[in-house]
Amino acid sequence: MINQNDNNLPIACIVIPTYNEKENIEKTILKVLEVKKTIQSFNLVILVVDDNSQDGTSETVNQLMMRHHDIHMINGEKIGLGDAYKRGFSYAQKELNSRLIVQMDADGQHDPNVIKIFIELAINGKELIIGSRFITGSSTPDFSSWRRLISLVGNFLVRYLGGVYMIKDCTSGFRCIDVNLLKQCKLDRLSSKGYSFQTTLICELMRNDARAIEIPIIFNKREYGQSKLSFYDQIEFLINIARIRFRNSEDFIRYCIVGILGVCVNFMTYFTLTRFTGWAPELASPVAIEISIISNFICHNFWTFIKRRKQEIFINRFFKFHIVAGIAGIINYAFFITLINALIINDLISLFLGIAIGTVFNYAGNSLWTFRKPSL
Ligand code: GDD
Ligand code: MN
Repeated sequence: MINQNDNNLPIACIVIPTYNEKENIEKTILKVLEVKKTIQSFNLVILVVDDNSQDGTSETVNQLMMRHHDIHMINGEKIGLGDAYKRGFSYAQKELNSRLIVQMDADGQHDPNVIKIFIELAINGKELIIGSRFITGSSTPDFSSWRRLISLVGNFLVRYLGGVYMIKDCTSGFRCIDVNLLKQCKLDRLSSKGYSFQTTLICELMRNDARAIEIPIIFNKREYGQSKLSFYDQIEFLINIARIRFRNSEDFIRYCIVGILGVCVNFMTYFTLTRFTGWAPELASPVAIEISIISNFICHNFWTFIKRRKQEIFINRFFKFHIVAGIAGIINYAFFITLINALIINDLISLFLGIAIGTVFNYAGNSLWTFRKPSL
C-alpha cells in the first residue's frame, strides 16, 4: 500500500474543503489518486477539510483512508470556506510538511488531471499557478448568466481596486501555491471567513510579488448537489473589497506625500526665481511647475513605486508622467470652473475638490499606466 519511493519526494498537498459532498468526494479522491500515479517528481497527498457535514461525507472519507495511505482529514465547525482553507493550509504546512499546496473543489468541477500541469509549472519556478476560467481556452459550461455576471463584476472590482489587474480570474478555487510564498503572507491576520478568502489570498500573494501564471481550465458541471455560495458570502465579498483597497492604500499615501512635497518644491522654486533672480512671474511659474514635476517623478520612481518591476525605459516613463500630469491638470481646472460657475460653489471648496479629483486621476494614471505592474 505504501510506496516507499514517495518518502524521498517533496510533498504536494491537495487541500479539498467539503461541506455535504458525500456523493462527490469519493470520485474526486479516486481521480486524484489516479493522477498521483502519473507524477514522479512530487508525492501527492490529499487533505480533506470537512466541516461536520451532516450527510456522512467524513464517514466516506474515513473508509477511503482505511484503504489508501495518502488521504488525511481534519474536521471542524462550519464557519466558511475561507476558514476551512486557513486550517487546511496550516495543517498541510505543519503536519504534512508540504512544499506545494493545491486548492481544489470536491464536487467534480475541477479536473484533477490539471494537477500535472500545476506541478510541471511549479518545478519550472512558478510560485502561484491559477486554473483560470476567464482566459482564452477556458470555459464555464455550467455558469448561469447571473453567476457569470457576478463573477465578472467581482473580478473587475478585485482586479482594479485590489491592484491585481494582471490576473483575469481572482476568485478561482483551483490553484497551486508554493509554500515558501505562502509563508510570507500573514494568513491568520486575513479576516475573510467565506468565499472572499480566495480574493484576499490572491491579493496577498501578489503583494509579495509572486511569480504567477494563469492557465485555462474547463470549470465543469457540478456532479451532485448545489453550490454552497451563500448570500452572506456575496456581502462579505463586497465588504472585503473595501478592506483590500484599504490595505493597498500604502502606495496612494506615499503618492500624496510626494504630491505635497511637490507643492513645496513648486513654491520654493517660484519664490527663489522671482525674489532673488528677478524672473518675471509668467516665466518663473512654468519653470517651477516643471521642476516640481521632475522632482515628483524621481520620488515616485525611487520611492512610491520602488517595488514595482519596471517594464519600460526611464525616459518613456518620464514622458508618460508628463502626459498624465497634463491631463490631470486639465481635469482639475475643468472641474473647478464647472463647480464655481455652473454649481455656484464657494471657490476655495471648488479649488479643493478640483485638486482632489486631479490627484485621484493622477494616481490612477501613473499607477495603471506609467508605473504599470508587468502582466503575467
Ligand atoms: N469545509 C468547508 N466549509 N467546505 C466548504 C464550505 C465550508 O464552509 N463551503 C463550501 N465548501 C466546499 C464545497 O463543499 C466544495 O467542495 C468547495 O468548497 C467549493 O464549493 P462550491 O459550493 O462548489 O463552490 P462554487 O462552485 O459555487 O464556487 C466555485 O467558484 C468560486 C468563484 O466563482 C469554487 O471554486 C470557489 O472556490 C470559488 O471561489
Ligand atoms: Mn462547485
